[in-house]
Amino acid sequence: MKKVLMVCLGNICRSPMAQGVLEQKAKDAGINIQVDSAGTASYHVGEMPDERAIVCMKKKGIDISKQRARQFTANNFITFDYILVMDMENNKNVVRLTKDDLHKQKVIPVMNFLYPNEGMSVPDPYYGNDAGFENVYNLLNAAFDVFIEKMQYER
Ligand code: 4NP
Repeated sequence: MKKVLMVCLGNICRSPMAQGVLEQKAKDAGINIQVDSAGTASYHVGEMPDERAIVCMKKKGIDISKQRARQFTANNFITFDYILVMDMENNKNVVRLTKDDLHKQKVIPVMNFLYPNEGMSVPDPYYGNDAGFENVYNLLNAAFDVFIEKMQYER
């Protein structure tokens, strides 16, 4: 079973939403994968996802309220097959925690599935409004349609 880790900065907005979206898509497609999420920073460790993220996802029929924030650790390079980062800052902060090229290859900016190698980010919605969370959902939804397609061939 493939293991996928979603990574953002605080692990309370984008990556918990990413976890929820991919879990739902995998379930719908009948693909057995394990999904988790983490933040590069420790500010929010132990906290629930941001209320705005919970509400946004609830509207899509996905409950992310049981997730709790944790910080990314170098051990995650061993545990996970894919480490999907939300933006290029996350990418830099994760990649610099390993010297192993095989580990580095596991790290993929999530928007690369839609726009390969353009270095596009899922914009941080933390200081914005509900529309920012809706935008995050729409980007993740589109990117994971491509990722799920890829996973169909990797089972
Ligand atoms: P996330 O959003 O990385 O999508 O979870 C943020 C959450 C918290 C902060 C920044 C971004 N913060 O600065 O506390």
